[in-house]
Formats: sequence, structure tokens, C-alpha cells
Amino acid sequence: MASAGPKIGVIICSARTPRACPQIANFIIETIKPASLPTPSNLQPPSLTVIDLQEWNLPMFNESAVPSQIHSYTEYDHAHTQSWSREIQRYDAFIFVTPQYNWGYPAVVKNAIDYLFHEWKGKAAMIVSYGGHGGGKANAQLKQVLQGVRMRPIEKTIGLAFPTKELLVKASSGGDLELVSGSGTWSAQGGSIIEAYKELLEAVSADVVSL
Ligand SMILES: Cc1cc2nc3c(=O)[nH]c(=O)nc-3n(C[C@H](O)[C@H](O)[C@H](O)COP(=O)(O)O)c2cc1C
Repeated sequence: MASAGPKIGVIICSARTPRACPQIANFIIETIKPASLPTPSNLQPPSLTVIDLQEWNLPMFNESAVPSQIHSYTEYDHAHTQSWSREIQRYDAFIFVTPQYNWGYPAVVKNAIDYLFHEWKGKAAMIVSYGGHGGGKANAQLKQVLQGVRMRPIEKTIGLAFPTKELLVKASSGGDLELVSGSGTWSAQGGSIIEAYKELLEAVSADVVSL
């Protein structure tokens, strides 16, 4: 029987209302959606699933133990941590879609990461940041933290810069950014997004032992 393809979680890293992040995550998914790209020969087609940190609404980290010392989700104190653990265990790799807030990534992302350790460990990750200049500082800081939980962030990173001040303001108020794959805002970045995604798939592919 053919094994299922890798499961890739696309993490929406803004939890405010209104927000731009869901439409940017959707643009990334539309650009890389499995049907439009060849997958490495030892992989079944991947699935892409949105993980929205606003919906998860995790409280500020409140576990009694250090997550790196936890080896079963049943050892966590709280039901919300057990659910979050089981969710993250389901995925083979992640795409973090993050805004830049005050030269860093949003606190909600750090909080969501800190809850767990072994659930993240060893998994490949791609980072897409956005902001007035592409959110490069948020991107670099997040990469370092992902390395801290022993994830494997890929080399290529994506930084999407709002082309005008007007578009940044529009993004901030949840307006339509006209993100159409192949045309519209950031269509020129489509090639780099696909290249980064291919690198992510190669990283996942290296985990799969061909039989
Ligand atoms: C608290 C906060 C801090 C921000 N700091 C930055 C920043 O450092 N650099 C930047 O380019 N944009 C910054 N912005 C503007 C965001 O790029 C813009 O509001 C974007 O829409 C945020 O993503 P979101 O709507 O998905 O939350 C900031 C926005 C907020 C809400």
C-alpha cells in the first residue's frame, strides 16, 4: 500500500483582528499547492494544512515542567497543551507565515513554540515573513528560535515587502491585498517561493527511507 505524503502545517503567526496573515498564507498555499509542482521521487504528494494561532488561542505558557523533559503528551498539565502537542505531532514539516512586529516576530509564535519541544525536534521548516521591508529581522530571529528547538529551518527564506506605505496600512486593517498567484502583488516573488518550497520538500524527502 502506498504511504501517505508528508503533512505540512502552514502556521498563521498573527492572532489579531483584523489581520493580513491569513490571506498571505493563502497566497503561499496557492503558489506552492502540490498539484502544480513535481514532488521528489521518493515522496507521495504532500498535504498542506493551515494551523491558525488565533484559533488555538493558547494562554501564556503555564506548564510546570520543561517541555524538553516531557516525552509523552499525557505528561503535560493542561488539556490545551495536550491538544497542541497532538496537533503538532501530526505534521512532518512546517511553513511559518509571520509578520514583523517591532523588529521581531509576534509573541504568540514564541508562546506556541515554547509549549513543546520533541514535537518540533528534527522537523524541517520554511519561514515566510512580511512587513514594510520584508520582515527580515523577524525572519532571522524566528530561524534562531527554531534551531533552538532543534528544528531544521531551510537555507532559503522569503521576505515579502509591502510595495507601498498604502498597502502596509491596508494590510494592517485587513484590506484585500490582491494576492493572486501569478499576477498582482508579490507575483514576482512566486519563483523564489517555489524554490524555497522545493528545498523544504528535499529536506523532508531526506527523512524518508525509500523501500
Ligand atoms: C504591533 C505591531 C508592530 C509592527 N511593527 C512593524 C515592524 O517592525 N516592521 C514592519 O515592517 N511592520 C510593522 N508593523 C506593521 C505590519 O507589517 C502590518 O501591520 C501587518 O499587517 C501585520 O501583520 P498582520 O496584519 O497579519 O498582523 C507592525 C504592526 C503591529 C501591529
